[in-house]
Amino acid sequence: MTSSLEGRTALVTGASRGIGLAIAQRLVDAGARVVISSRRQENLNEALLTFDQRTSVHAIAAHVGTRSEAERVVAQSIEHFGSLDILVNNAATNPYFGLLVDISDAQMQKTYEVNQTSVLTHSGAAWHQWMSEHGGVILNVASIGGLGPEPGIGWYNVTKAAVIHLTKQLAFELGPRVRVNAIAPGLVRTELARGLWENNEAQVARHIPLGRLGEPDDIAGIAQVLVSDESSWMTGQIIVVDGGTTNQPTGGVA
Ligand SMILES: NC(=O)c1ccc[n+]([C@@H]2O[C@H](COP(=O)([O-])OP(=O)(O)OC[C@H]3O[C@@H](n4cnc5c(N)ncnc54)[C@H](OP(=O)(O)O)[C@@H]3O)[C@@H](O)[C@H]2O)c1
Repeated sequence: MTSSLEGRTALVTGASRGIGLAIAQRLVDAGARVVISSRRQENLNEALLTFDQRTSVHAIAAHVGTRSEAERVVAQSIEHFGSLDILVNNAATNPYFGLLVDISDAQMQKTYEVNQTSVLTHSGAAWHQWMSEHGGVILNVASIGGLGPEPGIGWYNVTKAAVIHLTKQLAFELGPRVRVNAIAPGLVRTELARGLWENNEAQVARHIPLGRLGEPDDIAGIAQVLVSDESSWMTGQIIVVDGGTTNQPTGGVA
């Protein structure tokens, strides 16, 4: 089997739906035992129903935005499956759409904690509780928004730019025991991005060279490779998966 994860254990945050759920499903299909986590137990219960191999999946409700919750979910994951080889920092939020200069303190703080500091607190907990001794792999879900400006989601993008830098810094600090990489998705058909595609999908798709929005599994396939031994000599890298969105003419004069 390609990218086999037989015998590995993983924690995927934000895994009750969307990209996180697709990643968890890929990991289980590849042989891993996976803890799925998100805030709401009822969402996790629904997600659990989508797995064929239920004994390979365990759900833990937790809020990614605080250090104590990060330490708890990592500890309970290790307690349940006996190890933690793979951490996927996927959960994120975007409570604000508008000019950067008009965002409220509460919106700014929430986005910062859920999208940015969670990557550090979960990676730190995984390192201290398991990976410093046993090794492991961390995969962060960033965004192409972290690579440059876009209308409306400026602060979200600032947090994603930070996730990109956190990936590089953590890879530098935690090697050789732990590899740390990131995926930067383009527009994917999920709840988080619904406002960006729901009423104008055909128009949006025209600006994507591959002619369609991404689906969660388009991201999950690459995630599977990045947490497996197929990528064992890769760390600190940001892999763009965006249907070609960022590969456009610059508009400059040749
Ligand atoms: N969709 C896109 O176009 C796109 C593009 C680029 C990057 N991304 C990135 O891809 C990742 C996944 O996004 P998605 O599009 O799949 O989003 P989604 O469908 O909205 O799913 C978000 C997941 O995160 C959980 N979550 C939200 N806030 C949380 C919190 N405070 N603590 C714990 N879990 C929380 C949600 O479940 P609960 O409600 O139960 O907590 C849900 O499982 C994110 O990092 C996002 O920034 C997405």
